[in-house]
Amino acid sequence: MKKRVAILISGGGSNMVALVNSMTGDHPARPVLVLSNNPQAGGIEKARDLGVETSAIDHRPFGRDREAFEAALHARLMEAKPDILALAGFMRVLTPWFIERWQGRMLNIHPSLLPRYKGLDTHARAIAAGDREAGCSVHEVTADLDGGPVLGQARVPILPDDTPESLAERVLVQEHRLYPMVLERFARGNRTRVDLP
Ligand code: GAR
Repeated sequence: MKKRVAILISGGGSNMVALVNSMTGDHPARPVLVLSNNPQAGGIEKARDLGVETSAIDHRPFGRDREAFEAALHARLMEAKPDILALAGFMRVLTPWFIERWQGRMLNIHPSLLPRYKGLDTHARAIAAGDREAGCSVHEVTADLDGGPVLGQARVPILPDDTPESLAERVLVQEHRLYPMVLERFARGNRTRVDLP
């Protein structure tokens, strides 16, 4: 039986596209839902074009009530019955309530070499620090923000005239290699770490 994967997005969804495109043939998983907190997310249309069911649950009407938003998210997910939740550019911080329900089954991709640069503006911070390299990490989601076990990393050089934008582009190419690889391993029950040069 194939593992069922729900992908959570907020924006353009390029990682989501890479994940969906990877789940074919003898891949152990299949995408069952792409869910966005942003009804305008460009990724929704891309997912539809790829033939994947989509849903949007706008977080804004819930105001500061994160748990009410997450209860709606959770209810929608329960309909899709995913085995694995893949956060792919999902820009809402999740509460312990939600994480507890999905822990052990939830992955995230983060655009830095964790544990460095948790949170936002990772590329600007790496450049400002004078780092020689940057990259991306796929990790399990735990209540510790961007702090769960790292399952894979890919590295890129930081070049002398890099801007946060040029670095983000270089890292994104690696995100599209790394995330499908880690998801496939995870879906096979392999939680050992993979490092891409
Ligand atoms: C990606 O670079 C991802 O690593 C980052 O957002 C981008 C989404 O792009 N995620 C985070 O910053 C999470 N805190 P995409 O929508 O094209 O996949």
